[in-house]
Amino acid sequence: MSVNAFDKAKELMEEIKNFKINNEQEKEIFRKRFVGAKNIIKPLFGEIRNIANEDKKAFGQYLNEMKQTAEKIFAEASVKLEMIADSNTTQNIDLTRSAEPIKLGTRHPISIVNNKIIDIFTKLGFTVAEDREIEDDWHNFTAMNTPEDHPARDMQDTFYLKDSVERLLRTHTSSVQSRLMTSTKPPIRIIAPGRVYRNETISARSHAQFHQVEGLYIDEGVSFADLKQTLLYFAQEMYGKNTKIRLRPSYFPFTEPSAEMDVYWGLNDEVDYRITKGTGWLEILGCGMVDPNVLDNCDIDPVKYTGFAFGMGIERQAMLLHRIDDIRAFFENDVRFLEQFKSVF
Ligand code: PHE
Repeated sequence: MSVNAFDKAKELMEEIKNFKINNEQEKEIFRKRFVGAKNIIKPLFGEIRNIANEDKKAFGQYLNEMKQTAEKIFAEASVKLEMIADSNTTQNIDLTRSAEPIKLGTRHPISIVNNKIIDIFTKLGFTVAEDREIEDDWHNFTAMNTPEDHPARDMQDTFYLKDSVERLLRTHTSSVQSRLMTSTKPPIRIIAPGRVYRNETISARSHAQFHQVEGLYIDEGVSFADLKQTLLYFAQEMYGKNTKIRLRPSYFPFTEPSAEMDVYWGLNDEVDYRITKGTGWLEILGCGMVDPNVLDNCDIDPVKYTGFAFGMGIERQAMLLHRIDDIRAFFENDVRFLEQFKSVF
C-alpha cells in the first residue's frame, strides 16, 4: 500500500513535469488536475497515515514538493500565455486605419452670447464682476432705490426663500452693482453677467430663470453722452457695423433719467414685421443715469460722482441673433438644438 502511494506520487510528478501548456485550454486542464480546489495531489496527503513511520517524513516532503512544482509550472505558464496574448494584440493593430473621430461638444448658445457681450465690453475697459444668486432684500431692492411698498417692486415678481423673508433669489444682477458700490470706491467700471429669477409663468416669451448682463460706470463727470456712445459701440459690435440705435424715455427706480434702447432691425420679411410689431425697431436693453439716491445708499458722494447703468437679458439677445422663437429651448438641453451652435467664443 505504502509503496503504491509513493509510486503513484512519482508517476504524478512525472506527469506534472512533462505536461505541455501551450494554450488556455491546456492551462485549464492542468489547473483542474493539479492546482484547483479538487486537485489530484490533495488526496495523497491522506495516504500519509498508511505509510511506514520511517518513510512518512520523506513522503510528506515529496508531496509538498510536488504541490509547489505544480503551482510554479502553472504560474509560469500563465505569465507566458499572457505575454503571447499581449503580443498578438499588438501585432493585430492596423496602423493604417483612420482614427475614431473625437466628438467635440458645443458651447451653449447662452454662453456664446454671454461671452460675446463680455468680449465687447472688455474692449471698453469694463471688468467682469460676479456675486451670489441668493441675495438679501437690501442689495436687490432697497439699495437700488426700490424700498418696500415701492410700486416698482411689482415689475419684478420675486421668489422669496421660505426660511427667511429677508432672503430672495436675485431678480436682476443690479444686486452685483450695489454689492460693488458698497465695497469699492469709484471709478467703477464693471459688467455683471449672471443668472436671475422671477416668479413668472413659463411660456415661449418668458421664463422663471434667465440670464442678464448689467453694466455700471461711475466716475467724476460721467454723462448721458458717454452712455449713448458706449451702447452704440456695443450694438454695432453685436449686431453689425451699420446698426442704428434709438433711446426711448422709460422708467427704472434706480436710474434717472431712464431709457430703453432699440436697434433698427429692418422690415424685410414677415418675421421682422411680427417681432418688431411693424415698426422695424427692437427693444434690446434698459439703461439710464444712476439715480443719486442709489449712490447715496451705497455711500458714494452723488455730488462728486455720476454714473450710468444698463441691463439686458441674454436670452433675448440670443433669440434675436439666432432667430429662436421659444425661450424654453435654452433650458431643455435638447442636443439637436444645442449642436447647431458652433463658436469661437
Ligand atoms: N435691472 C433692470 C432689469 O432687470 C435693467 C436695468 C439695469 C435698467 C440698469 C437700467 C439700468 O430690468
